[in-house]
Amino acid sequence: MSAKQTEIIWEAEPHTVAKVEVLRAYLVAYFQILGTSKPGQTLLYVDGFAGPDEYRNFPHGSPSAALLAAQEAMRNSQDRWKARKLHCAFIESDTKRFENMARKIEPFRALAGLEIHTYNTDFVTGLAKLRTDVPAPFSKTHPLFVFIDPFGATGAPFDTIKDILTSDCSEILINLDADGIGRIFRAKADANHDPLLTAIYGDRSWAAELDDTQGFPLLCRKALHLYTEKLKAITGVRYVFAFEMQSTSGTLNYFLVFASKHPLGLVKMKEAMKRIDQDGSYRFADANVSQPSLLRFDDPEQYAPALHKHFEGRNVNYEGLDNEITDYALNQTPFRNSKSMLATLEKQNLIRVVSKDAKRRKGTFKEGAVNQ
Ligand SMILES: C[S@@+](CC[C@H](N)C(=O)[O-])C[C@H]1O[C@@H](n2cnc3c(N)ncnc32)[C@H](O)[C@@H]1O
Repeated sequence: MSAKQTEIIWEAEPHTVAKVEVLRAYLVAYFQILGTSKPGQTLLYVDGFAGPDEYRNFPHGSPSAALLAAQEAMRNSQDRWKARKLHCAFIESDTKRFENMARKIEPFRALAGLEIHTYNTDFVTGLAKLRTDVPAPFSKTHPLFVFIDPFGATGAPFDTIKDILTSDCSEILINLDADGIGRIFRAKADANHDPLLTAIYGDRSWAAELDDTQGFPLLCRKALHLYTEKLKAITGVRYVFAFEMQSTSGTLNYFLVFASKHPLGLVKMKEAMKRIDQDGSYRFADANVSQPSLLRFDDPEQYAPALHKHFEGRNVNYEGLDNEITDYALNQTPFRNSKSMLATLEKQNLIRVVSKDAKRRKGTFKEGAVNQ
């Protein structure tokens, strides 16, 4: 849930600071991995709703968080850095916030190997300009990561999201205001709902999928579910995961939805989430289930039965990162892989494991076929 802000700089709630920190932690890994593994390629990071880059009670927002991550990744990589240039672009439509942000990030312009682009315009127009200024990442091969953090449900049309995700190496992290979508749906013509919802989802699928008969919380979950389904329908987008941020009283604050074509992206995003200290004033919940439960990174017993049910009666190959069971673990559970859940199931004699490794110990899953 994001309230409309009228001030240039406002107070950050703890979950807002956590969001900025998740982004920073993820980007350190993202820049470092791609910077050291993509010889000669252009890397592009875009913050589509950059904000003023500071809060009354916190020294930086998402722009500086990304630039600090870039600085750290480059420092850690040193002469292992193989990519060409790292471009960071910041789009902000409000002129006063834009000016504040531009002033705050100015010192980072001195960093070698980094080029900063700023656009005082709306997300869609800024992205179109950026495509002309730095074209390579919008094509098939060069990495592109776009952070989309609007106030409210509008401003990031699905056609634009789809366009970003056509390139082979692109990812998005979006703060989805499912509450806002629910409110637009409820207000109907008073909120000009038809064109707004059609822009958010890219078509009129919302008209058949959303309904308000079972109360507002369920309407919001349906709004999220439809959005993740639309993301998964984009060619090549195999990894979509929604994190729900709650206040400790259980109120929904927002959903962070991550979408990528490569498993490593989601692995690193989960690591960044896991590292965040849930200090008691907010917590992550599992947004992928109809009855939200706390997102536990240490409780395979909770998720193992559903994995078992999903693959029951089948022989499934388990090998490396790129296999069906790992995809399931990444998309449907808080885990980075299925090892702990498979170990739980093997301990309960619910699966039979066939391994090429004669010395394999029960409960360890490096490679082999899993018979369930
Ligand atoms: C939630 S705040 C961004 C906070 C920032 N990402 C952070 O984490 O520190 C959303 C920002 O988007 C700006 N904004 C609103 N509509 C926009 C649009 N269509 N395009 C770009 N920026 C927009 C607002 O002025 C506001 O500063």
